[in-house]
Amino acid sequence: MESPWKPFLRENMLDPYPMYKELRENDPIHQSRTGEWVITRYEDAKAILKDDRFIVGNRAEWLSKAATQHMDKWESFAVIIDALRSFLVFKNPPDHALLRKFIMQAWNSREVDQIINENIEKLFSTIDPSHFDVVSQLATPLPAMTMARIFGLPTSDYQYLEDLSHKMIQSLDLYLTFRQIKKMEDATKAFIAYFEKHAAIKLAKPDDGLLSRLIQLNKESKTIHHHELIANCFFLFISGEETTAGLIELGLYHLITNNKLNPGIQDTANTAIEEILRYDSPLQIVVRIASEDVELGKQKIVAGSAVTICLGAANRDPEKFQQPDELLLSRTPNHHLSFGSGVHRCLGDWLAKKEFELLLNYLGRYDSFKIAKEPVWKENMNMRSFQSFAISCE
Ligand code: HEM
Repeated sequence: MESPWKPFLRENMLDPYPMYKELRENDPIHQSRTGEWVITRYEDAKAILKDDRFIVGNRAEWLSKAATQHMDKWESFAVIIDALRSFLVFKNPPDHALLRKFIMQAWNSREVDQIINENIEKLFSTIDPSHFDVVSQLATPLPAMTMARIFGLPTSDYQYLEDLSHKMIQSLDLYLTFRQIKKMEDATKAFIAYFEKHAAIKLAKPDDGLLSRLIQLNKESKTIHHHELIANCFFLFISGEETTAGLIELGLYHLITNNKLNPGIQDTANTAIEEILRYDSPLQIVVRIASEDVELGKQKIVAGSAVTICLGAANRDPEKFQQPDELLLSRTPNHHLSFGSGVHRCLGDWLAKKEFELLLNYLGRYDSFKIAKEPVWKENMNMRSFQSFAISCE
């Protein structure tokens, strides 16, 4: 029988939910033609994410293999491979807990409202509300400007950092071409050079920004190698950029097309944002590797197998959510998996939600919203967002 798992089919990239439904109903623990397992039920997804027999795949080893296939004698991808090995999200216990605790110690301030509000004001000072592109004029720059300020970096650098993040985020794609790996390698080198330069500045003149706090903490505690610290600074930057942009884009799009961006939404923004995240998650897939043989339902997942967990499919599981295909903004409880679960659960969820909440507050000054130019989706199964889409606010 032909496998329903076709992540590269254009129609599935644009709307994966019918494919998820078919898998969830007929073969929820599905083995694809390439051998990896595809998980679409909520309970299975959550159980795997919380089960320490499933570890994060060594993305760096995997990339080394891809790189070797593509490599000619002039090319080596040592820099990106080394950076990926350092990223928090690709670490397993016990290193993972140590690094996560270290980052959390430095990143303990949630007083970001003022930064975000100033950034929103600044962006809208150059936007014509009667017609603007949400992606390029609002959703992409807002998280980059915010992360730059949180790190204590010059805000004027945000476009440069945003461009590098964009190249790096492809490391999450399921398969990579030579050109993509090359772009990622170049972006990694540029990121390292940038953060090294600013780390030296902060070392000489500490301040209250996140970069300075990470450096000071490591100077005192010597918890991690300097190159790991630098790699995780730009990993944090990347993590906070494309995903949050996705939330803003998907959020505004679904609210407007469902006629739900109404005055008063600000009063119940927290619940509404959780539902938007459930309904259409910016990050659709996370991958794990079975570290030993595991029985899952009637299937035996043998050690070493890759398991693709479809968060977007779990979030639409009718066993967990009533009327899962409806956007019900007052839905509670709403234990969606868009931020993952278990030890790797997102540590920037509060920031992404805060950016969208404050944006909704700002938009409260307008009465009506229309899609001014139909969206063009990015054709990427994992990161769900748009290339462009314009709205008008009156
Ligand atoms: C709507 C926006 C966001 C979504 C949908 C999202 C989603 C996720 C998911 C699903 C994971 C788990 C990955 C896994 O289990 O393999 C994760 C991890 C992570 N996220 Fe987010 N994220 C968002 C925003 C952010 C922001 C704003 C930051 C911070 C700047 C951030 C930082 C991280 C980090 C550092 C991890 C790795 C945690 C670990 O491995 O312990 N994320 N995110």
